[in-house]
Amino acid sequence: MPKVIYLQSDGERTELDVASGTSLMLAATGHGVSGVVGDCGGVMSCATCHVVVEDAFAAQLPPPSETESQMLDYTAMPREPHSRLACQIVMTDALDGICVRIADPQL
Ligand code: FES
Repeated sequence: MPKVIYLQSDGERTELDVASGTSLMLAATGHGVSGVVGDCGGVMSCATCHVVVEDAFAAQLPPPSETESQMLDYTAMPREPHSRLACQIVMTDALDGICVRIADPQL
């Protein structure tokens, strides 16, 4: 199963096996990864699943939709070049090893 690495702002690292087709938000909240809130359940209305994708994987993701991009303009932590909503990143085998830094704060 492909792996995802979640990094906290203090450097704490959590590595999870995530089934293809599962969003990085659902994987994180389902395993109690601190800092990924996912208040809206993944419908892009809360931005509490803000993550910053490591450079090597950012280009492999489809670009954010207009709605995702608009939400990223209103996150608690300022948007960075590779900011994404974890609810919109769907795991695939090709993303094995993807590393995302969890935004701090989310609220
Ligand atoms: S869970 Fe609400 S925007 Fe991602």
